[in-house]
Amino acid sequence: MRTLIAANWKMFKTRAEAQQTARELIALMQDDWPAERDVVLFAPFTALAATAEAVAGSPVAVGAQDVYPAAEGAFTGEISPGMILDCGASWVIAGHSERRHILGESASFVGKKTAFALEAGLSVMLCIGETLEEREADKLEAVLRAQLEQAVRGLSADACLKGLAVAYEPVWAIGTGKVASEADILEAHAMVRNILGVILGSTAGSLPILYGGSVKPENASSILALDNVNGLLVGGASLRAESFSKIIRA
Ligand code: PGA
Repeated sequence: MRTLIAANWKMFKTRAEAQQTARELIALMQDDWPAERDVVLFAPFTALAATAEAVAGSPVAVGAQDVYPAAEGAFTGEISPGMILDCGASWVIAGHSERRHILGESASFVGKKTAFALEAGLSVMLCIGETLEEREADKLEAVLRAQLEQAVRGLSADACLKGLAVAYEPVWAIGTGKVASEADILEAHAMVRNILGVILGSTAGSLPILYGGSVKPENASSILALDNVNGLLVGGASLRAESFSKIIRA
């Protein structure tokens, strides 16, 4: 399976800043992209088209950080899959923990977004993960199962294979500098693979499962070496081209 290295820029970067970071990244990689690695930049909506323009002709893909599950309509403030595709982006994040916990997005709404975006031709990075409270209450597997079932049940194997990736991001490790231990990552990724297998059958073995949460150039290669880790979703350390380029090469 190819390895996917994704940058989540969150609510950072103007159009000019996004273009500068994207161009710096391409210059730093000097046309020496690791053969088995794919790279996606998840930019804010306002910088999507500018980022897509900056990476045109390179192997880098661009994605949005959220989507609304309708083609168009009276949904003030929302963005459709068609609008994202129109900006030159091909990916979208669904269910990032900051949307689930800060904006109150439910697992069933995340499921609607996932299905609708895949159907519309976008690839989807479905984010799942437990809070510290849930982990300490021994609910890790139950939380991952519930989040995956709501998002993945009902999807065809074909739709999943065409564009679904899952990112396991323990909420307590996001932006905290507290990376999950190798044992924690191994355990959670095996659970995710297992749960996907129950829902999707053999298709599960071909879906990329990424780890996210305080990934840095210093810990990227040891995390990537773990079983069932097929990529990384990187927040803080993706904002600067230099550190993100080191993670791509890790
Ligand atoms: P972080 O964020 O790398 O800054 O912890 C990861 C994410 O939220 O996707």
